[in-house]
Amino acid sequence: MVRAARTSDVRAIRALVAPQAERRVLLNKEAVAYYESVSDFVVAEIAGAVVGCGALHVLWEDLGEVRTLVVDESALGSGVGSAVLRRLIERARELGLSRLFCLTFETEFFQRHGFEVIEGQAVDPEVYAELLRSYDEGVAEFLDLERVKPNTLGNTRMLRKL
Ligand SMILES: CC(C)(COP(=O)(O)OP(=O)(O)OC[C@H]1O[C@@H](n2cnc3c(N)ncnc32)[C@H](O)[C@@H]1OP(=O)(O)O)[C@@H](O)C(=O)NCCC(=O)NCCS
Repeated sequence: MVRAARTSDVRAIRALVAPQAERRVLLNKEAVAYYESVSDFVVAEIAGAVVGCGALHVLWEDLGEVRTLVVDESALGSGVGSAVLRRLIERARELGLSRLFCLTFETEFFQRHGFEVIEGQAVDPEVYAELLRSYDEGVAEFLDLERVKPNTLGNTRMLRKL
């Protein structure tokens, strides 16, 4: 079952992220950042236990980003990640977005879900200038700013039209 995350899921979400952050696959964030963005998140449950999560973060009028998509090791390869991503895509459409971005090592998984590898920027220079005003680390990663390059090394930039 995939459902909207609740504040009481933040501990489980952080527990899913922790091993991936250690491997530098995902960015480690402070607890407060998860509470601030809990409404971006959905979680997947099996028998009442949270085994996966993912977030949709709106970047601009037409553009969102899939963030923090993680499945617990015990549930990998059984369709949980796909179910979470499908729900995030549904949310993106409901919000009126027409493009979804992600920054990932899991290129084959995202390709199977219709994402394509992109080079360079996904927004025009005017929107780029507006996004530069954001304090969000994820936006800085999206813009590929020099100061966050050590975090994004080896990741692939991908985009899907909705
Ligand atoms: C990317 C990630 C979320 C995918 O999660 P997942 O639950 O394993 O994804 P799925 O099970 O839907 O799909 C993965 C594989 O299972 C297969 N699969 C899908 N549904 C299946 C099912 N019902 N039964 C068996 N296998 C299935 C898929 O074909 C796919 O095969 P693969 O071995 O070629 O990859 C997971 O690998 C992960 O947590 N990665 C680390 C974090 C990360 O990098 N996140 C992305 C950046 S935000």
